[in-house]
Amino acid sequence: MSSQDDVFVGSIDQGTTSTRFLIFNRDGVPVADHQEEFTQIHPHPGWCEHDPDEIVNTVHDCIKGAVDKFKTDGHSNDKIKAIGISNQRETTVVWDIKSGEALHNAIVWTDTRTSGIARDLKKRKGSDELMDICGEPISSYPSVTRLLWLLKNVDKVKEVYERGDLAFGTIDTWLVYKLNGGPEKNVFVTDATNASRTAFMDIREVKYSDHLLDFFSYEFDLRKIHMPEIVRSSDAKAFGAISSGPLQGHKITGVLGDQSAALVGQKGFEPGSAKNTYGTGCFLLYNVGEKPVISSHGLLATVAYDFEGHRAYALEGSIAVAGSGVHFLMRNLGFSFASHKITELAETVPDNGGLVFVTAFSGLFAPYWIDDCQGTMFGITQHTQRGHVARATLEAVCFQTKAILDAMEKDSGHKLHELKVDGGMSNSALCMQTQADLVDIPIVRPKMRETTSLGAAIAAGFAAGVWKDFDALKGVNKADETVFERKMSDADSARMVRRWEKAVQMCAGWKD
Ligand code: G3P
Repeated sequence: MSSQDDVFVGSIDQGTTSTRFLIFNRDGVPVADHQEEFTQIHPHPGWCEHDPDEIVNTVHDCIKGAVDKFKTDGHSNDKIKAIGISNQRETTVVWDIKSGEALHNAIVWTDTRTSGIARDLKKRKGSDELMDICGEPISSYPSVTRLLWLLKNVDKVKEVYERGDLAFGTIDTWLVYKLNGGPEKNVFVTDATNASRTAFMDIREVKYSDHLLDFFSYEFDLRKIHMPEIVRSSDAKAFGAISSGPLQGHKITGVLGDQSAALVGQKGFEPGSAKNTYGTGCFLLYNVGEKPVISSHGLLATVAYDFEGHRAYALEGSIAVAGSGVHFLMRNLGFSFASHKITELAETVPDNGGLVFVTAFSGLFAPYWIDDCQGTMFGITQHTQRGHVARATLEAVCFQTKAILDAMEKDSGHKLHELKVDGGMSNSALCMQTQADLVDIPIVRPKMRETTSLGAAIAAGFAAGVWKDFDALKGVNKADETVFERKMSDADSARMVRRWEKAVQMCAGWKD
């Protein structure tokens, strides 16, 4: 190996249920990794919190675990030229900017406690003008409702707010701040992809919007809160450096929300390319080019990535429950302890046997945005078996993806030619075949599916000169792909979709 090729990039992937650290070589091949799960805190039904300090500890542990393996394989730390971060988006952390102490558990993006706040916001005069500015509908999904909830309900947060020391951030901001050593260095930034998930940012200007801040400041003056500076996703200086542990002194040079990272990792740089990541939730991002498209059909406008000289936007379809539906079968219903067993169970039956499972544990996101529905199964008979339930759980994600693609076609005026996929559930050939059967475009699954981590590594590697530009990525992750094409008849596919849509309509209005 020439010294030129003996170059690596580290990538922190801080997801909803686990943290990972991967080290990639210049061809985008992961050479070492370490993963840790952390506690999911559910104080009440529908609530979900993470301990912000535990998250930081898992990042340190994962870095140590992966670097140990890297060194055992004969590499040295100084060959790691840059560190990238991809993170769960919208999840909200508040802390005291002076002490660096978190003031409450992070409220996770799946948490539904703020649906009442979202409903009240929607009733306020002028609420229908917001989406054109921030790109997303008012719901419990963006960070804003979580921040308002914390201000209203947690005395300690209110106290620090009144003192003028309250800091707000998403997980990227919290990690960068903490990895740099906290208040001493006070590196307090967010990248444009993460900022576009807060509902505070003007999506066109990529700046905090006065209009949005005024609208949300009806009870608390949000300008009194420290908000991180919005910077590019790839930047040699803005994110500082890791202050302790085996990678002490190594610069963080790239940050992307995880779904943006997956688009970058799939090299979805051309307008018209799209990827669907079947993780805890499932998120379809469609690159629309240099200008945002504000959806009229239930999708979100988001910054796809913001590299020097290349800012791209995406239309996004967000599905709240994907892998978490599989986990529900495993953990709550005791179906199995391994996710691939759920696919095996689904394969024991030839079809769903008439069962439709609307997995609306956090209400339904795109393109429906129904926050008063809950998970519901339709079509249970004495013939229903566990295999049908497993199959219906996988199918729920495929149906929502179909609805999102239909909405995208209407918003963009174009039909997609293919859909690139990744994430845990994409390992299920049954699930991917079902997806192809329902959407009737090729579903393209790369062999190396660590695309979220790879995307953050690419963002970091660009700023550190590991790759010069998009052209230099040609050799990256070009291993084989598997393509799934439709096998089902049009009529059968259409019948399944009709039953799903009927089930969705019947779910609405269930929750008090
Ligand atoms: O918007 C939430 C999203 O970023 C979470 O991603 O991979 O944890 O499902 P994931």
